[in-house]
Amino acid sequence: MEILTDYSLKTYNTFGIEAKAKQFVAVHSIAELQTVLTENPTTKKFILGGGSNMLLTQNIDALVIHVDLKGKEIIDENDDFAWVESQAGENWHEFVSWTIDQNLGGLENLSLIPGNVGTTPIQNIGAYGAEIKDTFVLCEALHIETQELVVFKKDECKFGYRESIFKNEVKDEFIITSVVFKLTKRNHQLNTSYGAIETELANQNISNPTLKDVSNAVIAIRKSKLPDPKELGNSGSFFKNPVILKTDFEKIQQQFPDMPHYVVSETEVKVPAGWLIEQAGFKGKRFGDAGIHKNQALVLVNYGNATGQEILAVAHDIQETVLKTYGIAIQAEVNII
Ligand code: EPU
Repeated sequence: MEILTDYSLKTYNTFGIEAKAKQFVAVHSIAELQTVLTENPTTKKFILGGGSNMLLTQNIDALVIHVDLKGKEIIDENDDFAWVESQAGENWHEFVSWTIDQNLGGLENLSLIPGNVGTTPIQNIGAYGAEIKDTFVLCEALHIETQELVVFKKDECKFGYRESIFKNEVKDEFIITSVVFKLTKRNHQLNTSYGAIETELANQNISNPTLKDVSNAVIAIRKSKLPDPKELGNSGSFFKNPVILKTDFEKIQQQFPDMPHYVVSETEVKVPAGWLIEQAGFKGKRFGDAGIHKNQALVLVNYGNATGQEILAVAHDIQETVLKTYGIAIQAEVNII
């Protein structure tokens, strides 16, 4: 375990932004993690997982700790369910594929999401009608200050739409080291209600889908809409879909009758930010090496050598225009560093 200095983070963030860590260390076990924390008590620290949900706008003036803990196993099971534990540094999609290969159900709709397992609870990742909170049991996390391993059960994580306690009350205080999911061994509850999945399965003439079929459908949909970070730097959805008051929505709808929306509660509706951004004319636009993806306006992309500042400037431009046009404030989903 070696602490490196002035280390490039270009290959450690899916946006592919060039930024340097003042110090960098990769840890492969909890013991290594504890050693780094004990030996550097006063140094400022920055925890890095898969780098799939952040925009680096500057060099990081801290000790960057890359959590590279590996391992996944079934830790308990009965006739109906298996409890599966993954260490934080496992690649999310490889983990999901591994569960599907063993005919374990619950994560198939979350196929092909970039990033590592340990960061999934932080923003309660979700796609195609599923969120990790649906199968999440608990995670273990190391308290940076006391180096104590703490268990966070589902209720304690305070999951919401792209939200959890780790983004709020205990932000930057813990390093998630492992996560446990409860998955089905039989009677899988397939969720194909999300329109595009049904269409994709129908196109393939599949009427009785398996877990693998659903996963493959999700992979096909994602590939058709979302850029592969290995080919085009990006961080998935850059913005959250805004949740607004129903009364406000009704006023806006008079001017924009085609605006899609989903009912969230009796008083609130969610509006797809991708629609607002597309209608505001940004979809597929390019400003130098920063741009908006041609198939999904929620995704900002790096065509090669964009800086984080350049991507942030595009994001601000989008936010201002959407606010001016619709009176709706949209917020970044990714962490701006
Ligand atoms: N839309 C447009 N133009 C666009 C994109 C979207 O008009 O360029 C409208 C369409 O009306 C479409 C609706 O938005 O019917 C919803 O679009 P989509 O199904 O692509 O989903 P989304 O709301 O844009 C969310 C997640 C994605 C997730 C998809 C599928 C957020 C912030 N994003 O996007 O998550 O894959 O649903 O479930 O909630 C991510 O978080 O990185 C991510 C990719």
